[in-house]
Amino acid sequence: MISDFDYTALAKRVGPYLFRQRMRLQEYYVAQSFGPGRTYFHPENARWARKFLTVLLKTSGLYWLGERHAHAIRLHEHRAALPQLPAAFNGYRVLHLSDLHLDLDEKLARTILERVREARADICVITGDYCSFTMGDPEIAMGWMRELLRHLAMPVYAVLGNHDRIEMVTHLEAMGVRMLMNEHVALAREDACLYLAGVDDPHYFETSNLEKAVEGIPEHAPVILLAHTAEIYREALGAGIALFLCGHTHAGQMSLPGGTAILHNARHPRRMNSGPWRFHELQGYTSSGTGACIVPVRFFAPGEIVVHVLEAAPDPASPA
Ligand SMILES: [Fe+2]
Repeated sequence: MISDFDYTALAKRVGPYLFRQRMRLQEYYVAQSFGPGRTYFHPENARWARKFLTVLLKTSGLYWLGERHAHAIRLHEHRAALPQLPAAFNGYRVLHLSDLHLDLDEKLARTILERVREARADICVITGDYCSFTMGDPEIAMGWMRELLRHLAMPVYAVLGNHDRIEMVTHLEAMGVRMLMNEHVALAREDACLYLAGVDDPHYFETSNLEKAVEGIPEHAPVILLAHTAEIYREALGAGIALFLCGHTHAGQMSLPGGTAILHNARHPRRMNSGPWRFHELQGYTSSGTGACIVPVRFFAPGEIVVHVLEAAPDPASPA
């Protein structure tokens, strides 16, 4: 179990009230399958749900198709044109991983590691959910993270998801990951700066504080926001975020042929479920996730490893 946890330092970073909120919710809600939360049923906490689904899928003969789909992780580029992007960051490559759920299945974790090795980028960002079972031992996922980081020869920035305990921050940072807990960092290139802000989980724990995360960033400076879900898209618009990167949905994980998600587990429009989207001048990208949750299968909802390639776009606010 995770130890050496510096409560005082982390409370200051997250904000004392939100930190206390997270600790209390972790204590009361994380270990239950039924009860208050965004939904009444929390399948991520129920081992019996995993067994039930596995038996059902194996009996129906669908398990192996789903397993094949889960291992077919797409590695691709997404070009993001950002107004106010300094010329020095033209072509900057941001590797985006999300929803790794590394403790779910050893075979799938190995496939993820293999695919990640092929990606080339300047930095890597991870938008949460390292664990599968929130009540399980995070050490298993942390062990896989140690291996994964050996394959990433670039700085790594990350946020936590709704499956992750806050104590994991200490371990991830000891591995060299810069966790953004309602904080930001400045990325420098030549004389120019690009800001990377990150918030704690907006979905289950509701401990995101975007206002705190962007505090001190110069007005009109380009900011990339990392959050586990797109649910704070309205706040992101208000904060003038240039690019909002998130995950959580797994693009439904089990979808109908053609990709229509059966389940929608987030409070944002369905069009924000996966891939690029817009909300007025805000641009976002919801990763369909790299791993899988509850059962290591996907149907018609491929996992992905995305490299966002940044490009300068004309600022619509500037006079022609
Ligand atoms: Fe999640």
